[in-house]
Amino acid sequence: MGSRQILVAGAGSGIGESIFKKLKFSSGVEVIGASRRGNDLSEGIRAGRNHFCDFSEEQSIFEFCKLLKSSWTRLDAIYFTFGDGLFSTLENLDPESWKKHLFLNLTAPFLLTRELTPLLQKGSFLCYLSSTAGRQGFPESSAYCASKHGLAGFAKALREEWKDREIRVSVVYAGAIDTPIWDGREGFDRKDMIPVEDVAEFLASLSDQKPSFNLDEIVLLPKKGIL
Ligand SMILES: NC(=O)c1ccc[n+]([C@@H]2O[C@H](COP(=O)([O-])OP(=O)(O)OC[C@H]3O[C@@H](n4cnc5c(N)ncnc54)[C@H](OP(=O)(O)O)[C@@H]3O)[C@@H](O)[C@H]2O)c1
Repeated sequence: MGSRQILVAGAGSGIGESIFKKLKFSSGVEVIGASRRGNDLSEGIRAGRNHFCDFSEEQSIFEFCKLLKSSWTRLDAIYFTFGDGLFSTLENLDPESWKKHLFLNLTAPFLLTRELTPLLQKGSFLCYLSSTAGRQGFPESSAYCASKHGLAGFAKALREEWKDREIRVSVVYAGAIDTPIWDGREGFDRKDMIPVEDVAEFLASLSDQKPSFNLDEIVLLPKKGIL
């Protein structure tokens, strides 16, 4: 078997960028990224590069997947690390923001998974990045909690549905990790958060675990617990 072929969906910044960099310098791995700040698709798919995809646009997801399927014949792992936060009281949460948020954090991972299914095979690994907000509620976070609970539910259902195909599916409930997603949010001490490189090193290693077991659910918290 040749190199392991891996997609990091959401490699522009934060956790995804850090996983992408770890994998790029791992031996026996060909990794590509996808996010809004990626390279133009007219340049083709090239290992070690981030490629343009706007996961908030259905058409952009289809275009990226079409190109990927015409370039690679299999995918050994996909990291679903794109997403955003939406924090507001219910009264201030407008329906349009809710819709956009749910599309990016929940519908887009579904569409991407569905489109790339033909590239998956026995032993392929899918890693969905949920959150502590995918296990419990937080105030002023109803949209974010709904999208992350939804993503966890989607991943767990897929894990059951694809048991016989031996496709590995993990959902990661991460606590606070120091990334740009926290910029502008007050009341949190960044020093208490997990350094993003530490999380990335752990998550990158998951794609290389023995295929004889499945890590169904992973809870990953800062030393001080939920902040
Ligand atoms: N940091 C934490 O404490 C934490 C904890 C639990 C879960 N998470 C989850 O981890 C995910 C990544 O967050 P992060 O902490 O790494 O923050 P981040 O630095 O803001 O990362 C967001 C990532 O999503 C990509 N992205 C955002 N909108 C996109 C779009 N429309 N199309 C394509 N890509 C898009 C960004 O790339 P471009 O800007 O290039 O598009 C970037 O790679 C989020 O779903 C977040 O909920 C984070």
